[in-house]
Amino acid sequence: MSFSSVILAAGMGTRMKSEKPKVLHEICGKPLCKWVIDASKAAGADDVCAVIGHKAETVREVLGGMCEYAVQSEQKGTGHAVMQAADFIKNVKGSVVILNGDTPLIKAETIQKAVAYHKEHCEQATVITAVLPDATGYGRIVRGSNGGVLKIVEQKDATDAEKQIREVNSGMYVFDAQSLVYALEKLTPNNAQGEYYLTDTLEILLNAGKKVGGYAIEDNYEISGINDRVQLSEAEAIMRMRINKAHMRNGVTMRIPESIYIEDGVEIGSDTEICPNVTIKSGTKISSGCVIGSGSMLQEAMIDDNVDILSSVIIKSHVGSGTHVGPFAYIRPDCTVGSDVKVGDFVELKNSAIGDGTKISHLTYIGDSDVGKGVNFGCGTVTVNYDGKKKHRTTIGDNCFIGCNTNLVSPVNVGDGAYIAAGSTITDDIPEDNLSIARARQVNKQGWKDKRKAE
Ligand code: UD1
Ligand code: MG
Repeated sequence: MSFSSVILAAGMGTRMKSEKPKVLHEICGKPLCKWVIDASKAAGADDVCAVIGHKAETVREVLGGMCEYAVQSEQKGTGHAVMQAADFIKNVKGSVVILNGDTPLIKAETIQKAVAYHKEHCEQATVITAVLPDATGYGRIVRGSNGGVLKIVEQKDATDAEKQIREVNSGMYVFDAQSLVYALEKLTPNNAQGEYYLTDTLEILLNAGKKVGGYAIEDNYEISGINDRVQLSEAEAIMRMRINKAHMRNGVTMRIPESIYIEDGVEIGSDTEICPNVTIKSGTKISSGCVIGSGSMLQEAMIDDNVDILSSVIIKSHVGSGTHVGPFAYIRPDCTVGSDVKVGDFVELKNSAIGDGTKISHLTYIGDSDVGKGVNFGCGTVTVNYDGKKKHRTTIGDNCFIGCNTNLVSPVNVGDGAYIAAGSTITDDIPEDNLSIARARQVNKQGWKDKRKAE
């Protein structure tokens, strides 16, 4: 099903009360207008053109090469916005779908159905409509005695009788591209708002003897436009449940799914369990059989099979299969954690590689380090990776034993199989299989207390 689409995204969005253009506000980790462009592409759009205006350069920066652009420097209405894309529309053979950049819940399958309806009924224009319990604010669909669409009347231009109509204009349409070009040339701003209304194109086409129809949508939510932060949160709640249900249908178990926030662009394998109050951000990939425990936050994380994570944060890092993380671990960017590793409570890792089977059980900081396999870290190990000016690396070989409360002042290398006595501050390399003790020897002073009493 071939068509092109135009996304209206030039408006200011005053009610968002924001420095950021409305269409760049995000739900589930993706800007509003990107949801619309993605739905359009998923429905089969060959080309997409976004009409940008308010903070156009900022919008263009975010959307990049995902669409073409037309610029509307002054916002003179929806018809005027589409006029700015006239050059794009002129080149379209067949249908053009008009969508709004602030209506992120529209589904690809709905766009497909509307285009199919449009083609089946050989219409020059099909408006996507919805029947709402409360139609206030929307343009009303005025139908004739034969049920056909006669025109759309805006709230501000509507008579009292017209205000009673509950079928509304979603603001989304399918047009025959050349008929739209014809109608745009005839638009005038003769209305209450002095704007060029895109809705007037329907009457123009009807008057020219063309066929105009309405496609009533099944799920009213899909047309919800976002004007303020309350509507933003309502739309996000709907999108969040769509995302969560899709994961559940793919075999993911969710405990209290309403409390789980998963952004767009996350992959989760089957038999993985997500516990309450978990946040999983875009770019994260979780394999099968994992447990993501309460309060965890994952961002661009790669998690292999059977990993269990509890109340921990993992950012831009890879965790190997069978590894246990948390509670309260913080894995910062650029870490590669091997298989069957233990990253226990209050452990922070940064820009480090940790070999298979290594245990970092508690209260430890490892930064800028390469750690081998089967290493055991005692409680309270710190890699001292910053000398006040520069960061340096620490390397630790396989099967080392790092005693509790050890400082490793980098750059420093610990050979395979080395032992470090608890409380050591290591400043020099340790050859393999050595025991290194770097602390003052204990002195016990017999009779010291009695002597002090006497004084
Ligand atoms: C429009 C429709 C109304 C429909 C409603 C659905 C018209 C005249 N009215 O009204 O029938 O029920 O949408 O939400 O079309 N935009 C621009 N440039 C402009 C004006 C608007 O790009 O000059 C963009 C906005 O950013 C927005 C979209 O067009 O994404 C709709 O504009 P908006 O002002 O919200 O139109 P409504 O008055 O809500
Ligand atoms: Mg609106």
